[in-house]
Amino acid sequence: MRLDRFLSNLPRFNRKDVRLALAGRRVTVDGQVTSDPHHDVREFSCVQFDDEVLQPGKPARYFMLHKPAGCVSATVDPQHPTVLDLLHEPDKHDLHIAGRLDFNTTGLMLITNDGQWSRRLTLPQTKLPKVYQVETEQLIDERYIEKFAAGFYFAFEDITTQPARLTLLGPRSARLEIVEGRYHQVKRMFGHFDNKVLRLHRESMAGLTLDPGLEPGQYRTLHPAEIVALG
Ligand code: URA
Repeated sequence: MRLDRFLSNLPRFNRKDVRLALAGRRVTVDGQVTSDPHHDVREFSCVQFDDEVLQPGKPARYFMLHKPAGCVSATVDPQHPTVLDLLHEPDKHDLHIAGRLDFNTTGLMLITNDGQWSRRLTLPQTKLPKVYQVETEQLIDERYIEKFAAGFYFAFEDITTQPARLTLLGPRSARLEIVEGRYHQVKRMFGHFDNKVLRLHRESMAGLTLDPGLEPGQYRTLHPAEIVALG
């Protein structure tokens, strides 16, 4: 594992702390000072901060899940099945969801125990694109495209949404790319036109597309290159 990831997996360091610790030459690996974030930390490497030996944190875990409709994006729910119920993994209580979906929304969901990774992915400031397929009750026309690009005022948050790209796919269906993840964002955007969203499916997040072979309810571990590309 890279040294910066080893360090940032420890609860005491955030990314900035890691940069400072490395730049300040306060970290050694097997007795050698290193400021290289890519330095390889192996299973039995001895990593020290000043003179303190650091015990490795729990290994980071990352999953892509095809969320089915009728399941809650939460870790526990008294009434309904949750997305975590679909995972057959140990220590599920360590895991959390990076970017929730509504009860009936389907599609790509990322689940991890790496809080920094998921925070970056979901912060509106990071502006990572999320792509949805939408089916609506009423017709979608060309007027929508301009309005989605211009933004919608959300009074509750007192913000105007970032420019969003809407592509018409059919009379009542579209592909939408947004860079935030506000509460019920897509439904509220279409709600501006009094147009109810009947079906919502997330295709991709930050360039990572749901595997076509993953059926609703199925999941897989992310590949190292995918984790790095998103993080
Ligand atoms: N926007 C919504 O309104 N619902 C979702 O589940 C995701 C985005």
